[in-house]
Amino acid sequence: MKIRKDLALSRSEAARFLKALAAEIEEKGRLDLNGLDVPLPALFKVELEYKDKPDKKKLEIEFKWPVESLSVSVVRNKDSVTERIRIVSHGSLPVGKAVGFVYRGRESLLIHLAPGEYKAYHRRCPHKGEPLSWYEPTREIHCEAHGAVFDAATGAVLKGPVREGLRPIRLEVTDEGIFAAE
Ligand code: FES
Repeated sequence: MKIRKDLALSRSEAARFLKALAAEIEEKGRLDLNGLDVPLPALFKVELEYKDKPDKKKLEIEFKWPVESLSVSVVRNKDSVTERIRIVSHGSLPVGKAVGFVYRGRESLLIHLAPGEYKAYHRRCPHKGEPLSWYEPTREIHCEAHGAVFDAATGAVLKGPVREGLRPIRLEVTDEGIFAAE
C-alpha cells in the first residue's frame, strides 16, 4: 500500500482507503506500507482522537502494541563502542521486503535485497530529514518529500536534490539472525 503524505482524497476515496487497510489487517495480519513490512500483533490498543486546532482539524487513529525487547549487546574497545542488536531472525523477512527498526536511537530500514543479501540504512533523507521508503519494483529507496532516489544496493544517489548518499549500517548475518553491529 503506497501512502503519500500530501495526498488529498475525497470523502468516499478516504472511506475506500480505510476499507482496503482494514482488509489487509484482517486477511494478511501484516501491512506493506510504502514497502515496509509491518507484521501485526494479535492484540492492539486502538485510540481515536479528534483534534480541533485553529489552523487545522485532525482525526487520528492510532494502533499501538508493545515492542518485543531487542537483544542488545554492547562491546567497548579502547577507542570505540559497538552496539549489536538482532533486527530479525533468519527467514522471517521475505526477499524483496523491508522492515523498520531503531538503531542507536535512529529510525532505520533493513532490506532483504536477494536471497541472503541484506542492506540497512538510517531511514531519514540526508536532504531535509524526511522519512524514506523502500520501492521494491526498481530496488530503490525513495524520498517522497522532494523526489530523491537512492540505489538500495549501495546507498548512492540516483536522482534528486541531494548529493550525499545513504551510508549503509554494518550488518552481521548469522544463523541466529540479522544483526546491526557498528
Ligand atoms: S527531504 Fe528528501 S529529497 Fe528533500
